Amino acid sequence: MDWGLKNRIARIISPADNKALMLAVDHGYFLGPTEKLEDLKKTIAPLAKHCDSLMITRGALRTSVNPDYPVPVVLRVSGGTSIIGEDLSQEDITVSIKDALRLNVAAVAMSVFVGSKYEYQTIVNLGKLVNEAEEYGIPVLAVTAVGKEIGTKDARYLSLACRVAAEQGAHIVKTYYCENFEKVVKSCPVPIIIAGGKKIPEKDALKLTYDALKAGAVGVDMGRNIWQSDNPVAMIKAVHSIVHGTNNVEQAFTLYKQLSGKPNQKSNNNKPNQKSNNNKPNQKSNNNKPNQKSNNNKPNQKSNNNKPNQKSNNNKPNQKSNNNKPNQKSNNNKPNQKSNNNKPNQKSNNNKPNQKSNNNKPNQKSNNNKPNNKPKKRN
Ligand code: R5P
Repeated sequence: MDWGLKNRIARIISPADNKALMLAVDHGYFLGPTEKLEDLKKTIAPLAKHCDSLMITRGALRTSVNPDYPVPVVLRVSGGTSIIGEDLSQEDITVSIKDALRLNVAAVAMSVFVGSKYEYQTIVNLGKLVNEAEEYGIPVLAVTAVGKEIGTKDARYLSLACRVAAEQGAHIVKTYYCENFEKVVKSCPVPIIIAGGKKIPEKDALKLTYDALKAGAVGVDMGRNIWQSDNPVAMIKAVHSIVHGTNNVEQAFTLYKQLSGKPNQKSNNNKPNQKSNNNKPNQKSNNNKPNQKSNNNKPNQKSNNNKPNQKSNNNKPNQKSNNNKPNQKSNNNKPNQKSNNNKPNQKSNNNKPNQKSNNNKPNQKSNNNKPNNKPKKRN
């Protein structure tokens, strides 16, 4: 791998611990001004310093991020559809490598829609993007996009989608957490990060983060569960304390509550957006102002729990598993690694999406496995 490519990946996945906290704010590329992301500047500014990288579109970057602030940029370069259009899977590459270079990006990102009507187009586009990006030492993040059927996306489907993306040359893959996520990680030869998905209670989002890292993900590319929280800065710091620190779920949630100024809050009270359709921009609500209810987002308030690299051993999500430290004792997440761990399907049938199926089509027997046939929402 060339120096430039390695250097850019190191801006996304910290070489210190091989972990990544990417803040996703690219949702507007198909959702428009979705809830709490209407004012990009206002949402991004207080959060940018707490993430390792920012996943964003070029329009949002140029208009809403201060170029003096050195946050590494993962630039979304695919698009072409919107939430009110016919089919979200019909994406193309919309940004040139030249423009990505002008923006000094750390990586480019695009979605692949495995199993959808436009599977071929998006997978071929991924291959072409890798060809072009590698010319300039730019890593490619492949997003395994799914439609509204996210609940039906199991380890078999996600393993297939991630593997397809990695085989096309993606350097990092973003996918969704699922049961048996270890299998998804083990059968993907490049680092995996997970999307947060729709807004869920903060404690649940922290558990998702913890579980994903424990299963071998190198980190998160999280959006709504951070900036749709009542306390976005508290939330990103709590997520950080798991990704780069030693906090377990309870400790991270306690930190979230402390930073929110609500130390006695129960987890069920943290469902600010539960009744809202988060994918529909601005629907019936004017309550989209981030941080509206609280000014308590001051980092490091009253607590040492804000130190992500604190010394407690109790909180290490990756302690019992080498899968979590891909570059440490395990090669699971290293691109181009030499370990047998990268050989999916070796000891487990679970990694063979086609094994038990007739005709080798993993999703054949169920319509649920065709994620994007008629998507109207994206998770
Ligand atoms: C969705 O298509 C975007 O690529 C987001 O970056 C991605 O879904 C992660 O954001 P969230 O955590 O809100 O799901």
